[in-house]
Amino acid sequence: MTTPAAVIMDAAAYAQAVEDAVKASAAYYAGGTSALDDDAYDRLVRGIAAWEAEHPDQVLPDSPTGKVAGGAVEGDVPHTVAMLSLDNVFSPEEFTAWTASLARRIGHDVERFSVEPKLDGLAVAARYAGGRLRQLITRGDGTAGEDVSHAIGTIEGLPETLAEPVTVEIRGEVLMTTAQFEHANEVRTAHGGQPFANPRGAAAGTLRAKERAYTVPMTFFGYGLLPRPSTETSLAARLGELAHSDLMVLTAAYGVNTTATTAVPGITADTVEQVLARVQEIAALRAELPFGIDGIVIKADLAADQQTAGSGSRAPRWAIAYKLPAVEKITRLLEVEWNVGRTGIIAPRAVLEPVEIDGATITYATLHNPADITRRDLRLGDHVMVHRAGDVIPRIEAPVAHLRTGDEQPIAFPGACPRCGAGIDTSEQRWRCENGRNCHLVAALSYAAGRDQLDIEGLGHTRVVQLVDAGLVADLADLFALTREQLLGLERMGATSTDNLLAAIAAAKGQPLSRVLCALGVRGTGRSMSRRIARHFATMDHIRAADAESMQQVEGIGTEKAPSIVSELAELAPLIDKLTAAGVNMTEPGATPPTSSDGNAGDYDEDAEHAAGPLDGMTVVVTGAMTGPLEKLSRNQMNELIEQAGGRSSSSVSKKTTLVVAGDNAGSKRTKAEDLGIRLATPDEFAALVADYLN
Ligand code: IVH
Repeated sequence: MTTPAAVIMDAAAYAQAVEDAVKASAAYYAGGTSALDDDAYDRLVRGIAAWEAEHPDQVLPDSPTGKVAGGAVEGDVPHTVAMLSLDNVFSPEEFTAWTASLARRIGHDVERFSVEPKLDGLAVAARYAGGRLRQLITRGDGTAGEDVSHAIGTIEGLPETLAEPVTVEIRGEVLMTTAQFEHANEVRTAHGGQPFANPRGAAAGTLRAKERAYTVPMTFFGYGLLPRPSTETSLAARLGELAHSDLMVLTAAYGVNTTATTAVPGITADTVEQVLARVQEIAALRAELPFGIDGIVIKADLAADQQTAGSGSRAPRWAIAYKLPAVEKITRLLEVEWNVGRTGIIAPRAVLEPVEIDGATITYATLHNPADITRRDLRLGDHVMVHRAGDVIPRIEAPVAHLRTGDEQPIAFPGACPRCGAGIDTSEQRWRCENGRNCHLVAALSYAAGRDQLDIEGLGHTRVVQLVDAGLVADLADLFALTREQLLGLERMGATSTDNLLAAIAAAKGQPLSRVLCALGVRGTGRSMSRRIARHFATMDHIRAADAESMQQVEGIGTEKAPSIVSELAELAPLIDKLTAAGVNMTEPGATPPTSSDGNAGDYDEDAEHAAGPLDGMTVVVTGAMTGPLEKLSRNQMNELIEQAGGRSSSSVSKKTTLVVAGDNAGSKRTKAEDLGIRLATPDEFAALVADYLN
């Protein structure tokens, strides 16, 4: 997981490396627009450290290894207790070695660890006197920071008044959530400013900007609580004795935000194994978090252990940062492609200079829609900050504006559909070909025939192309009118494949309404939403009779989605009629239509939505590989099964989960279920539970 350190050959290269690192660090702490991304910076500093280890007599005074990191911006407010940095580890082995050296230092194994996310923002100290927030100071060089009290009132989670009239200093991280970052860049570019490259830079720039015509919100997470010189003696003594985890409980009780409010709350762990398991869990959840983290901070939890371990000049010896691989890299935007999807949406996609992020080579990133390109002020040739975490499609965060050369070119928007040449409907944010889903019929039909929709075996992409090219199908319903003769007339179609395909098409007519609905490709309704709509309304007639208000009765459909689903269904009416006439099933087995007193499909009896099943009221998560009777089921089919049996399917484990079906090689979801004390079932146990619904 660790990328190799930069290789430094001689004293000149070393001096250059120190200069580059100092510059990058200065830019990073001042406004976050360094030309080095985090990973490149880390590699450089590790290279510097390696060279220094070989040449201890030639270490330069301003080397980034020797001083408190982030010392570039000097402030004039002294910290009463130095604001230290953290040393890093990059692997389980390095972490284990660190615990061993800490144990040697304190004379025994660490009694208990605290494990919390390393929030990717910037450190501040919030000084409270008598429960009132008086002063906010950046870390600066660790011994003195800058007064940024003007930001008080713009930082969520950092209240101006505490729940108790105490005099304390609360330390923590100021950051922008993804939503706050998007908002900040919108406001900033609307005011003629350059967008910030990433949330961290946005938080740094915003915090330090004194006079600005607008304010944009940020978020605070506390991770330290310490006395001030004027703190009441008994409270000061108490703070000095409390474990880190207890200090965090107290911080939250004062009304300050902590990681306890997130999906990755700080926890305590008794063993190295438990710490490493938690590291894996946090890493697995990283992509879904609404804010950036760049690692996990592990601390000796007990005050006594911390005191015995003590601190170096740069970092405490009782805490360590377990760094996660960088999810952001800077690369160049080479081109923008415009692709038409199965519903006729024309989506821009960025073509990038290939860049490796966390082990994967990234060449494309989503660009959402044309308005988004304009809002971000993206240009061809721009250096861009690319973000990729987990399996989520990589996205461009923003251009790195200060790296512009002036040669960047504006991005041209298409004037006609790039696929069929028809006009473009630009009335909504996402542009759409005026031919709608007929524009890319092959994509629409391949999707409809897919395993999770109508499941028509033998109707893959190539076959669909053949049918469309031969003029045999012009919409989904035409599939059901295909004759044996027509199919036999196609190239590479023998009697057996023809009969098999006809049988598969005939069988598809009997698919439940949820799958038929999904096959139609109504925008905004994927597999699980289609199931919810189908279970709610039970018949296609009820779905079509629904107005926006009734549509909103379906869980997960809000005021924005409801009218667009209703109007799209109206657009699809001729196709739905044709499918019905072809004999395609339009009812959902086991579902009961909503009862209504006034003819409106909206009012209905919750309990009547489905017949009682063995999973009634349960929220079920499936993880790992299924075996036994469930072996052949896709995740989608497992979810269908859960919902048919009265349960609700979910992809992530939380306190609301009631059952986790854990198959072979189940990972972090299983561990989390165990931690939360959630009932676990093997695939066989689960199969027995829902036996009536398996066919
Ligand atoms: S503890 C003396 N806890 O990481 C202990 N720091 O690389 C130092 N950070 O300066 C701080 N999340 O800005 C601590 N849960 C966390 C943190 C955290 C993020 C930052 C903080 C610190 C930097 C060190």
